[in-house]
Amino acid sequence: SFSDSRPIGIFDSGVGGLSVLKELRELLPKENYIYIGDTLRMPYGDREPSEIKDYTIECFEKLKAENVKAAVLACSTSTSYSLDELKEKFDFPIIGVIGAGALETIMSTENKNVLLLDTNATVKSGIYEKTIAKIDSKINLISQGCPDLVKAVEEGYGESVVGFSIAKKYIDIYDDFDYDTLILGCTHFGLVEENIENILKEVGKNAKIVNPAYSTAVQLSRILEEFRILNSEGESKVKYFVSGDGENFKNMIVDFLKEPRDSINIEKLEV
Ligand code: SIN
Repeated sequence: SFSDSRPIGIFDSGVGGLSVLKELRELLPKENYIYIGDTLRMPYGDREPSEIKDYTIECFEKLKAENVKAAVLACSTSTSYSLDELKEKFDFPIIGVIGAGALETIMSTENKNVLLLDTNATVKSGIYEKTIAKIDSKINLISQGCPDLVKAVEEGYGESVVGFSIAKKYIDIYDDFDYDTLILGCTHFGLVEENIENILKEVGKNAKIVNPAYSTAVQLSRILEEFRILNSEGESKVKYFVSGDGENFKNMIVDFLKEPRDSINIEKLEV
């Protein structure tokens, strides 16, 4: 059968997309991957829409130059502000994290009360409300921007006691809100899902966690199947390009993906 060894692109402003890469590699272990993290200019969540768009397009030009066959926009902020434009500009299939996250939320909630933790910019865009309301206008979504949690995860202390109390600070605000579903909208938060689970237990909330990384990966694998561009031969490789400190990023990969340090291939992304 036909086999397409061109890589799959994954873009995030930082380490959050690693949660999507992890799911993708489990689902599609024979694929090659190119990961771009614009760590020098992150967080995108506190930037203006025009900057978010320009930076995202710039990084996608790099993915195009690397000849990707499809790409995941694993950054909620970029998905909010630039997905439509990217789809017009590039001719490989691109999927964002919000469509899959919204759909999973709709299927998860029974009492129709949902809490979204995300970046400030994504919250401000209202994209989750709009996407969900198109399918179920009865869902009551409350959104919280969590910039300190983005920072904690990006800087490597998301899983620590400090990271725990930062996440708890945001969850505590909604003590009186009877939500049955919690969306980890920013992909960074998928990397501290266990902490979040423990916090929900501690505060006595029986809410289901929606982490869009998995459903996004499933969606991409279906697209590859549909386009008949799966790879079935050879050894899977991952190549990383980061605009900021490569050593710091390598530590994150070792931490989150449990990769042996000397197998990690990181190149500098000039931005
Ligand atoms: C950020 O850059 O602010 C975090 C990544 C995201 O937007 O999901």
